[in-house]
Amino acid sequence: MKNFGKLLSYSVEKNIIRLEFEFGRGRIEIIRDDIINVFSPFMSEEHYSKAIEGEKAVKTEFSVTPVKGGIKTETAKITAIINDGFLVDFYDKNGAALCRDSREERISPENMTEEGKRQLLLEGHAINEGYTDFDILIKKEVSPEECFYGLGDKTGVLNKRNYQYKMWNTDNPAPHVDTFEALYKTLPFLISLKNAGVYGIFFDNTFASVFNMAKENPNFYWYGVNGGNLDYYYIAGENLKEILTAYTFLTGRVPLPQAWALGYQQSRFSYMNESDVLQVADNMRKYDIPCDVIHLDIDYMDAFKVFTYSKKAFPNMKKTVKKLSDKGFKAVTIIDPGVKAEEGYSVYDSGINAKYFCKTKYGRVYNGTVWPGKSVFPDFGRKEVRDWWGENHKAPISWGISGIWNDMNEPANFKTALPDDLVMHDEGRKATHLEMHNVYGHNMSKATYEGLKKLTGKRPFVITRACYAGSQKYTTAWTGDNTSLWSHLQMAIPQLCNLGLSGMAFVGTDIGGFGGDTTPELMARWIEVGIFSPLCRNHCAKYRKYQEPWCFGDEVLNIYRKYVKLRYALLPYFYDNFRICEQKGYPIMRPLIFNYPEDKICRNKNDEFMLGENMLVAPVVEQGEEYKKVYLPKGNWYDYHTGEKIAGGKTFVRHAPLDTCPIYIKENSMLPTCEPTAFIGEKPNDTLRLEIFGEKAAYEHYTDNGTDFAYRNGEYNLYEFIYRNGEFSVNVKNDGYAGKYKNIVLKKGDKTVKAAFNNNLKIKI
Ligand code: GLC
Repeated sequence: MKNFGKLLSYSVEKNIIRLEFEFGRGRIEIIRDDIINVFSPFMSEEHYSKAIEGEKAVKTEFSVTPVKGGIKTETAKITAIINDGFLVDFYDKNGAALCRDSREERISPENMTEEGKRQLLLEGHAINEGYTDFDILIKKEVSPEECFYGLGDKTGVLNKRNYQYKMWNTDNPAPHVDTFEALYKTLPFLISLKNAGVYGIFFDNTFASVFNMAKENPNFYWYGVNGGNLDYYYIAGENLKEILTAYTFLTGRVPLPQAWALGYQQSRFSYMNESDVLQVADNMRKYDIPCDVIHLDIDYMDAFKVFTYSKKAFPNMKKTVKKLSDKGFKAVTIIDPGVKAEEGYSVYDSGINAKYFCKTKYGRVYNGTVWPGKSVFPDFGRKEVRDWWGENHKAPISWGISGIWNDMNEPANFKTALPDDLVMHDEGRKATHLEMHNVYGHNMSKATYEGLKKLTGKRPFVITRACYAGSQKYTTAWTGDNTSLWSHLQMAIPQLCNLGLSGMAFVGTDIGGFGGDTTPELMARWIEVGIFSPLCRNHCAKYRKYQEPWCFGDEVLNIYRKYVKLRYALLPYFYDNFRICEQKGYPIMRPLIFNYPEDKICRNKNDEFMLGENMLVAPVVEQGEEYKKVYLPKGNWYDYHTGEKIAGGKTFVRHAPLDTCPIYIKENSMLPTCEPTAFIGEKPNDTLRLEIFGEKAAYEHYTDNGTDFAYRNGEYNLYEFIYRNGEFSVNVKNDGYAGKYKNIVLKKGDKTVKAAFNNNLKIKI
């Protein structure tokens, strides 16, 4: 890292403190009283952020005063001291040191001897490349008990301490293990939790970066990057919730999805033709497994040409999609960024004519190799390229397709990595692959989202494999090519929780596992977890055992049905949590620590999670295990299956045979449910079932048309349900949506009361 030297002078201009050091310049920008940006122009004066759109700074009171060796700036929530060397230390308003730059140096480990390397290689071991140096290196002090969360889809346990990760979107189909440094996504945001408090830090730089989370030295973590600017945001808050609300204020939130997108989704690489697809659809109904979506993987295309379909496999795609729709299914098609390089193919021709594909530094269109063979890559950083890509969705939309699944957008290239110096653009600015790689999937998703929105007016449903911070505004995501392994079922929990803590809340894994062959037992346990993931899709690789729900015999089929029906019963609760996610940035699926930041046991809880505020799920994720060691945080809980009341703050053993996923509901809460249907919208959703747990509770429930953006103009209903002194009542907070409930079924313990629903209800129960 360069030496900034002494702080020579500073000046304050609006919300920016400009800093002149002996050997460089920096600036501190007050975004809000809880968000401060630290910046030095290593590459450019501008941020060029892909994550943050529009001006975020709001007028904020702050002071700037000189102190020994630097300056101090204070907002209502943060005290920052900027020292010589551009070392920046953050304190909370009570003076607790939360995030100080470490003064310790990294020590370069001794290089390996040639003989040592030879020995390791002989047995096929990887060679540790040793010490790497960075142009931009930030080191932050770490306390012994400090935990880290976030960082996206990375492998390993919930708490990211003691790992090293690399942010370089990577398609590596080998089974994802803890030693993997890079996966598909770049979400360079982390939350630190320690006894002194909590903070968030977002390193907004798209170049390949490395996070060493106190693995190299227990006294500090470091972030290093070669390329781009020194550009990070310090986020203050009282707890994880406040941090995530602020982070998603900056980078955006998951918009409410269409209601059907919360249904169960079935996929395979690939259902090869119309009869395959229709048979899957018919089986879903025959075996009584609720299902809303069937995915068409690459084989639906004509020679893997995007925006086309194979007339041989699907003689008339519009008719196929109509047949699906008549049975209550939506169809989602996969779209890859690699466009087949073939003259006469309109997507290729129009892209070539308009010069929309990435070029080598010598000005020739770059040819890579993906599914279609020789392929070219759209330069998604340019608006006109995104618009053109968006318009290409006219084809799938005309067939009746309801959503788009974006894959291979790291971007993946089969034979070699794309050259670092490939010419790409960031809007009008010429850039390189090295800079744009990690935002390639982000820009592709943005193109898809905007295209679908324009073409349909509905809330777009997009799934992506690769993304960057802020992609949550445009797309859902899945965790890529996992494997049918128990360890991958176990990993799914921390992985999805950390994605949620990184802003990407609408996420799921391939239920059952993509690679490898799932077993009946693993399938049963995976669906017991999978129904709680916001994105709920079973997907499987080519030539792997079929893993539709009926492929494992009656026992698994019955378990599968039971849990998918539970998912459908819980849809009103899911939808409420999606609304909270859009309003506040809270994830739907959360680690316990998010709700219980004071509870030290929750810091490292990897095998339980919360659904929203009120439901705790403690699934069995071990082969052959029939008992679950359950931890419940302090307070009383109700066993969802038996109704038994249990005091929390302790660990106990729950019998959990194959058909049982232990679920607990917090005392003094309510749970809205509905009658499960074969698909969303099969029957009018006119009866609300509301379960009351405990003697006093309040709960906000939200409904809207589940389709378009009318809710943003007030077309929604928001109810506050109150239960006090044995009486249930309703407080209507918004009454803008015409689709009203007709009935309500209240349940409390063994008691059930049915009534006609109206806004002035009062019911004794
Ligand atoms: C990639 C995707 C996988 C998909 C396959 C074929 O491996 O991750 O989900 O099935 O490509 O499109």
